[in-house]
Amino acid sequence: MRVERVAAGVTYPSRHEILRPHQSIAEVGFPGDNDPETGHFAAYDGSIPIGVVTVLHEPPPLPTVADPAGWWRLRGMATAGDRRRSGVGSALVGAVLAHVAAHNGTTLWCHARLRALAFYEKQGFVAIGEAWEEPTLGPHVTMWRSVPRPRPS
Ligand SMILES: CC(C)(COP(=O)(O)OP(=O)(O)OC[C@H]1O[C@@H](n2cnc3c(N)ncnc32)[C@H](O)[C@@H]1OP(=O)(O)O)[C@@H](O)C(=O)NCCC(=O)NCCS
Repeated sequence: MRVERVAAGVTYPSRHEILRPHQSIAEVGFPGDNDPETGHFAAYDGSIPIGVVTVLHEPPPLPTVADPAGWWRLRGMATAGDRRRSGVGSALVGAVLAHVAAHNGTTLWCHARLRALAFYEKQGFVAIGEAWEEPTLGPHVTMWRSVPRPRPS
């Protein structure tokens, strides 16, 4: 398996099929998808993505953080149904952490689906605040983790 940085559109079929089947592929874009500093990553074992994720430079929905400019948002995390529990998601989070660190980010946050809570906890995220019901998508909670500084080369 390999993880590559890709164009936004490469992630859209997986976003649609796995995360947002109620939307068309044309509707699954996120604000900021085409910002130059946004990172889109796909995992491959062949030519078709088996997992995707996106990371955007976006401050958190938390009023009291000291350095909101250091916060980046993980979105659109999805592994193909027949490839789960084999390290794909972990590898994609690793690529996201490296991307944020390379941009001097300090913190990664996400709106996690509650059914994926254990996955995010294994990736070092902790939940903050109350869970809420996202229309159509189900229960979510905000999670965050710090981002290790890049190793000096
Ligand atoms: C959540 C998701 C991305 C995890 O991807 P994955 O490729 O299966 O993750 P990994 O194989 O890297 O798992 C990493 C660790 O998390 C654990 N884990 C993964 N999914 C889990 C789950 N649903 N419940 C409990 N633990 C889970 C794995 O067991 C693994 O633990 P280990 O390192 O001790 O073996 C995947 O299940 C998915 O795409 N789900 C549907 C879409 C979704 O809900 N995305 C999240 C949107 S917020």
